[in-house]
Amino acid sequence: MEIGNEPLIGADAIQARVEDLGAEISEAYAGRTLTVIPVLKGACLFAADLVRHVSVPVHLEFIRAKSYRGTLSTGAVEFTVLPECSMTGCDVLVVEDILDTGHTAAAILDRLMADAPASLALCTLLDKPSRRVREVYADYVGFTIDNRFVVGYGLDCDEVYRNLPGVYVLEAG
Ligand code: IMP
Ligand code: MG
Repeated sequence: MEIGNEPLIGADAIQARVEDLGAEISEAYAGRTLTVIPVLKGACLFAADLVRHVSVPVHLEFIRAKSYRGTLSTGAVEFTVLPECSMTGCDVLVVEDILDTGHTAAAILDRLMADAPASLALCTLLDKPSRRVREVYADYVGFTIDNRFVVGYGLDCDEVYRNLPGVYVLEAG
């Protein structure tokens, strides 16, 4: 497997979209404190850039859900990191790298909903709606893409490629 020469989404396009999303989120949560929960590890680069464009006070927590082996989704979701405190009464924004089958996001939202947050929303850098198995909708979407396996800007294939500043399609080669 290798990446193409040209990114599917270049670093400049990502940064411009992240800035727009930050502005949209700042407006939606005006006057409130927002608890941002990046999903480790994939969403950490996106979330780090995003929160720097959010103007309301941000409380950071983390969650880690493992559901993927190579390029095949197992459907089984296991939490290995959870927020340090209860999300009861908080305005919570889960930040994902990519919404694929929806198993991971559905499990995360169910888990956090059990805390009775004041509000719960989902922001994803990438959305692959053609792959959806669970009914999950993101409130904020960076880019909608076709059914292709992508890497970069936090997204990995077997832990490689996360540091690329753009998003690339992984091709057989
Ligand atoms: P889902 O549970 O099938 O929605 O998968 C979500 C998780 O699978 C994401 O958080 C990613 O870690 C991983 N994933 C899904 N599609 C891709 C991809 O195209 N590239 C890299 N990781 C992916
Ligand atoms: Mg992953």
